[in-house]
Amino acid sequence: MKKITFLILLATGVFGYKIDYATNLIDAPGIGEIKEHCTVCHPSIFIRANPGDREYWKRKVKAMQEAYGLWKLEPNVEKKILDYLSTHYNKKRVEVDDE
Ligand code: HEC
Repeated sequence: MKKITFLILLATGVFGYKIDYATNLIDAPGIGEIKEHCTVCHPSIFIRANPGDREYWKRKVKAMQEAYGLWKLEPNVEKKILDYLSTHYNKKRVEVDDE
């Protein structure tokens, strides 16, 4: 049973994502917010080249706000952005059922 779950996660998690061709980022929930609030300013290579966990991305968003003029984000928008980044642009690329 565990093995099957793992294989399904692997199939959907690793091979199942489409790439959003406008940004070259993984096309998953949250990509709309990323386009609206991040890649308006700079190409996604900054995101792809600098993966990290949720705390890391929280700091990055704050740094964008303090240094580079990113506007204030509504809490639900920030949550979607952090969910998206910490899931798909985490150093630990493949997350297997660790809860
Ligand atoms: C108002 C413009 C603006 C917005 C919006 C913006 N950034 Fe940035 N970002 C910048 C600038 C300017 C740089 C620095 C580019 C350079 O060093 O040449 C940068 C650099 C970065 C870097 C690489 C440098 C570092 O500190 O690691 C990352 C990662 C990054 N941005 C992530 C994001 C994310 C995630 C978002 C959306 C939540 C975002 N940015 C939104 C302007 C912006």
